[in-house]
Amino acid sequence: MKVLIIGGTGKIGHRLAQDLSTTHQVIVAGLNSGQHQCDYSSELSLHGLFMKINNIEHVVCTVGGDMIHKKFDQLTNNDWRYVIERKLFAQMLVTKISEMYIKNGGSITLTSGYHSHFATPETIAIGSANAALETFVMQFSKFLSSDIRINAVSPTPVSSMKSDQLPELCPITQVARSYIDSIEGDDTGKIFRPWDGLYSQNISFATLDESTYGGCKVGGSLFKVCSYFINSFSYFSGI
Ligand SMILES: NC(=O)c1ccc[n+]([C@@H]2O[C@H](COP(=O)([O-])OP(=O)(O)OC[C@H]3O[C@@H](n4cnc5c(N)ncnc54)[C@H](OP(=O)(O)O)[C@@H]3O)[C@@H](O)[C@H]2O)c1
Repeated sequence: MKVLIIGGTGKIGHRLAQDLSTTHQVIVAGLNSGQHQCDYSSELSLHGLFMKINNIEHVVCTVGGDMIHKKFDQLTNNDWRYVIERKLFAQMLVTKISEMYIKNGGSITLTSGYHSHFATPETIAIGSANAALETFVMQFSKFLSSDIRINAVSPTPVSSMKSDQLPELCPITQVARSYIDSIEGDDTGKIFRPWDGLYSQNISFATLDESTYGGCKVGGSLFKVCSYFINSFSYFSGI
């Protein structure tokens, strides 16, 4: 199958491209890198991309590196617009344009992120946008053209760093597997949550049951553990 990965030169996208390319034809697009260039926040740019590639069956968006980590009182109105225009609006545009070009039987897979459920003081904007995107995916799956599916993957940090203090939260192969399941499976309106690493580690939020994931525990023990855990490791700041 022919799969277009927008953001396919990034950390997650690159791994997905590698894993997919053994069985599928993969086309990789980035803002400045990849086989094709496009800006996913521009309708014109997306049209240009799709017009260059024929017969796309599946579209994946793994664009990243464009989120803002700030506390609520530091977030400007423009910061909020920036985050929402990318995580939500740009991926809505990817959906809108993809629907015009991809073949029946195809799929669209977008990317949210675990901050929809795990809040820190610096991820209020990101978490809100992630949650809105997931709602968009779940609702719009009911109204897409027949035979086109839409899902989202919600990654956790894909660190492979290992130390006594820092467990691997999620192997990148598991995150890539979620995108592949979205492409190859029958699901639509599904949010894939490759969160096993969160569950299996000996940290408080790993022990939460599914019902607890329904809401952020800001102010509670989860928040304290998340804050401690996240603030302890600066590599999270680029996510
Ligand atoms: N990595 C994690 O641990 C993690 C955890 C939770 C959620 N996520 C989510 O997963 C997604 C991917 O994360 P990542 O870490 O793989 O990101 P990343 O490594 O920063 O990926 C950046 C990719 O996006 C492309 N890109 C950036 N701006 C673009 C634009 N305006 N239009 C088109 N392409 C653009 C880049 O192209 P160029 O290289 O050409 O600039 C590159 O291919 C993000 O939505 C992120 O929020 C990631």
